[in-house]
Amino acid sequence: MKADDLLAQIRVNGQVPRHVAIIMDGNGRWARERNLPRPLGHRSGMKSVRAVVEGSLAAAVEVLSLFAFSQENWQRPPAEIKALMSLLQEYIAREAKELNEQGVRVRVLGDLSRLTPSAASAAEQLVALTADNSRLTLNLFISYGSRAELVRAARLIARDVRDGRLDLEAVDEEALRSRLYTSDCPDPDLLIRTSGEQRISNFLLWQCAYAELYMSPVLWPDFSRRHLYEAIMAYQNRDRRFGRVTA
Ligand code: FPP
Repeated sequence: MKADDLLAQIRVNGQVPRHVAIIMDGNGRWARERNLPRPLGHRSGMKSVRAVVEGSLAAAVEVLSLFAFSQENWQRPPAEIKALMSLLQEYIAREAKELNEQGVRVRVLGDLSRLTPSAASAAEQLVALTADNSRLTLNLFISYGSRAELVRAARLIARDVRDGRLDLEAVDEEALRSRLYTSDCPDPDLLIRTSGEQRISNFLLWQCAYAELYMSPVLWPDFSRRHLYEAIMAYQNRDRRFGRVTA
């Protein structure tokens, strides 16, 4: 089916996921299959980012979370890290105006202290430019690891208890949830991973407790609006029980 036909079907089905999270994987393999250097795979992955942003806007998804760079990715060769950082800046330079006009609120989440100063400042500017938008929240996870995010939340709790702002008895799920980067977002309903890998890879471990998982064999640079809609349709056919029995 064509993307627009799938979109029409999704609208008829109702129950669009409020929050879609994506582990964008397979750029390197896409490049290798073409005898291209890995950074060209990442570059080609940028147009898939555009496709899923547009697809999410059209389907009225509220939050789109993209795993763009993990903490583990800092261990990649310096040339590849450099290429990814400059791609991030290029993405921001190229897309900021349109994202803003489309009503997208962009946030950049992760340990941004490790970004190059120019990448960090480009990210800050995009976040500030789009802060008042509300059609779609686009969370770009950069220099992010879920365990590190949980450790950070635990530290924030410990500090508040130590300083008398929080009772030990008041430390509950909400206390932790509210100290995550995603505190103002609903949890992901649908987690997509591309390139056929069947792993979560330290992405949104707490937040994805009840997410429906969708593993696509498609390499990220080939992932299009149509593939996003296929994932949403699959989600709409799932029976979500959250540990309960079906009514
Ligand atoms: C995984 O492929 C992908 C990444 C580590 C980077 C993702 C970046 C982009 C899609 C481009 C820029 C995006 C933004 C938002 C500016 P991989 O290298 O692990 O692929 P492989 O597993 O085939 O080697």
